Amino acid sequence: MASGPVIGIDLGTTYSCAAIVQDGRPQVIRSKLGYTTVPSVVTFNKQGDAVVGVPAERRMVLEPKETIYGSKRLIGRTFLAGVKKRFQPHFQYELVSDDDGFVAAQIGEHTVQLVDVASMILDEIRKNAHTALGKPATRAVVTVPAYFNDNQRAFVREAGQRAGLDVLRILNEPTAAALAYGIDRGENKRLLVFDLGGGTFDVSILELDGNVFTVRGVDGDSFLGGIDFDRRLMDLLLERITGRSGGRPRPPLPRPARGRRRRGCRGGCPWLSAGRRPPPATWPGRSRGSSAASAPRRARRCSPA
Ligand SMILES: Nc1ncnc2c1ncn2[C@@H]1O[C@H](COP(=O)(O)OP(=O)(O)OP(=O)(O)O)[C@@H](O)[C@H]1O
Ligand SMILES: [Mg+2]
Repeated sequence: MASGPVIGIDLGTTYSCAAIVQDGRPQVIRSKLGYTTVPSVVTFNKQGDAVVGVPAERRMVLEPKETIYGSKRLIGRTFLAGVKKRFQPHFQYELVSDDDGFVAAQIGEHTVQLVDVASMILDEIRKNAHTALGKPATRAVVTVPAYFNDNQRAFVREAGQRAGLDVLRILNEPTAAALAYGIDRGENKRLLVFDLGGGTFDVSILELDGNVFTVRGVDGDSFLGGIDFDRRLMDLLLERITGRSGGRPRPPLPRPARGRRRRGCRGGCPWLSAGRRPPPATWPGRSRGSSAASAPRRARRCSPA
């Protein structure tokens, strides 16, 4: 049986994060470059090798059709009639069916299974943990939304195994949040957990009875989160920039400029939600001189470089 440290992994729609409990306190695992999160983004280089995390997120800005993001929203879903119409507008890459009838991403000539995407992200986290801890870390607990069905949970478990992880437990995100908030086991309580994430806005009612958390109810929208706010902000910005001027429509923005603005929208959100005006270097997507050092705390967490 495997031994060694157990890492807790939040496999997020936009960002994934891992931590380990040391001396009774959770410590977030950093990448070699000092990032505390791994963007849940995968792309492929010219040789066809997978590129995961920060470099993939950078490439997404320029090659959104070639980059797989937000795939947690789709993992384990069957490619039923109507899926394309319902979900495709949320993604720039093409959604197709894989050989098993599950939703997959078409990148160039390749059909990429979403379980493999999750596995690449988990593998990146495993490697970060190995480097940070100086020893292999193969045992993990992975969180998933409380509304995930058995199929979706099985896919995440499978993704972990493909990444070389021994997935000890699949834990509901609201349960993890309650524990992290300091709700002690051994009590009898009913809790409401509110989670506005990158891809999903959900609320869960949990009941804690002694040591057992039971999810009593879940509701929300799995297509409402930070990604959608970024997109709406981007649409608004483009409308302002490329809207009509003196009665004539302006030409569309070139792709790199569009990409910079997209990045600016992502970086600008935390400033706006802190009720502050984003500095010009962050907004609207200027490429150099980002003032991340003075950015609000959550913004630094997302993009420390
Ligand atoms: N201070 C902030 N204000 C507004 N938005 C923020 C802030 N900090 C981060 N975000 C946005 O929050 C999202 C990430 O949140 P989080 O890490 O909780 O989501 P996730 O775990 O990736 O997604 P999910 O829980 O839906 O699977 C991103 O869209 C990011 O741009
Ligand atoms: Mg989350």
